[in-house]
Amino acid sequence: MTIDWSTLRADFPILHQNVHGQPLIYFDNAATTQKPRVVLDALRHYYECDNANVHRGIHELSNRATAAFEAARARAAKFINARSPDEIIFTRGTTEGINLVAQAWGSKNLKAGDKILLTEMEHHSNIVPWQLLAQRSGAKLVYLPVTGDIGLLDLSRLDECLTKEVKLFAMTHISNSLGTINPVADLCARARKLGITTLVDAAQSAGHLPIDVQEIGCDFLVFSSHKMCGPTGIGVLYGRQEVLETMPPYQGGGEMILSVDFHQSTWKHAPHRFEAGTPDISGAVGLHAAMDYLDNLGRPNIAQHDQELGAYAYARLSRLKGGIRLFGPHIGRAGLVSFLLKDIHAHDVVTVADQRGVALRGGHHCNQPLMRKLGVESTARASFYFYNTTDEIDRFAAVLEEIQKFFGS
Ligand SMILES: Cc1ncc(COP(=O)(O)O)c(C=O)c1O
Repeated sequence: MTIDWSTLRADFPILHQNVHGQPLIYFDNAATTQKPRVVLDALRHYYECDNANVHRGIHELSNRATAAFEAARARAAKFINARSPDEIIFTRGTTEGINLVAQAWGSKNLKAGDKILLTEMEHHSNIVPWQLLAQRSGAKLVYLPVTGDIGLLDLSRLDECLTKEVKLFAMTHISNSLGTINPVADLCARARKLGITTLVDAAQSAGHLPIDVQEIGCDFLVFSSHKMCGPTGIGVLYGRQEVLETMPPYQGGGEMILSVDFHQSTWKHAPHRFEAGTPDISGAVGLHAAMDYLDNLGRPNIAQHDQELGAYAYARLSRLKGGIRLFGPHIGRAGLVSFLLKDIHAHDVVTVADQRGVALRGGHHCNQPLMRKLGVESTARASFYFYNTTDEIDRFAAVLEEIQKFFGS
């Protein structure tokens, strides 16, 4: 299928506006993506026609809301090729999914002396929940190193990291600050041979690449709806059914129980055991529409286009004369570039770019340990999605040249 990517911009009302008098160039997609009209329409339709609470009503609207919510679960299972909708838990997003695993799986399975293996390129969401678990359990964190500015995992160190004390290996699929795409299926296979449980942080990949949890062979995989055209406030935790069934509840409340007595209760099976309280029903409906929209375009097509934009931007920025430090792999990168202009603070770059209508992000990108390892406080980041164009990248590069002139570098 040949797609004219620029025509898709018509699906995204928000893109058609001026910011500070200039046409908006939205390059902050790794933080959150924009929403197509079909997602906005699905949310509106749900609230105008079907809104009710799920699972406990016996009236028509409640039945419809329940059907829509469970249809979204089945759609999410299909989206990542899970074996069953029962392997899909709705969460608030990637962060909550990881916290759920750290609480429910971690508290049961980790003890003093055990180790949790992470990589040096993890987002704080895939570090801090494990630090809290380590403090509770006496387990230790160990890290697979990253190879400097080029931003690859140092796989020559994997064997020495995968010791018998390691009980869990949690890794990001795509780095949000380097654009590295990690070989998660290989990493999970290596861990599985040693009986190590695995978690893949797919926050940056689920809306960008085809994801097949059976092919990856992970025990857990997490992602956020808002980074893939869906609404904020909802995400997915995939858990292998055999593992989920061994886990105690995460939070207590309505919806997750079979029966409650004054002094004790019994729980439903997964996934409902892990979804206490009224869920984000409209969020699930919006996410369903987003998954349909993305699969209509085809995630292999999106992946290819993303990588073309990433490669184009990397090459274009490499040619800037005033001095630029680029982070992440030279080839095979995802659709984002992190950089520093010589002698210009990332925040200055982002502030001036905003005045030209270009939305970038500057800071540590929730990767403080990685930034320290690279010897920087922050970087500027341009992150793309399929509605971005090479014309926008050219205009962005011209803005960077202007910034270099302005700051005299
Ligand atoms: C790699 C990665 N993991 C986790 C997260 C956290 O996602 P959320 O804030 O949606 O929970 C992000 C968000 O930027 C991310 O890029």
